[in-house]
Amino acid sequence: MKLQALIVSSVLSLMAGSVLAGAPVDVYKSPYCGCCGKWVEHLRARGFEVRTHDVADVPGQRKKLGMPEAYGSCHTAKVGNYLIEGHVPAADVERLLKEKPQAIGLAVPSMPPGSPGMESDRPMPYETLLVRTDGSSRVFARH
Ligand code: CU
Ligand code: CU
Repeated sequence: MKLQALIVSSVLSLMAGSVLAGAPVDVYKSPYCGCCGKWVEHLRARGFEVRTHDVADVPGQRKKLGMPEAYGSCHTAKVGNYLIEGHVPAADVERLLKEKPQAIGLAVPSMPPGSPGMESDRPMPYETLLVRTDGSSRVFARH
């Protein structure tokens, strides 16, 4: 009886934890990338469960995952069936998972100063792009 109660309560707490944390995010990055690590911390601070995978060939990994090279940044992440390229704000990832558009995922190409993980004294305006399945894109959010 006691054991049953314990199992029920631990299952419930696991479920609560996963709801709070959202879907796990797998990040593929170079082991030497400092700003990638900062972006990972940004996601974790917003409650995402993040698993990092160090890879030697970041562009090769991007290609393998299916994010077009034109949108390339320093890391590629996978969350559910979506890809997240570069320093995309956690709030945009949350909105993507909520709205569930038909798309490859989101990208902030290059590494704009002022984006999460690229904190700067001179932030620049930048856009988060929704990358469609045909490889084209539209603006998803302006920052
Ligand atoms: Cu970076
Ligand atoms: Cu990165």
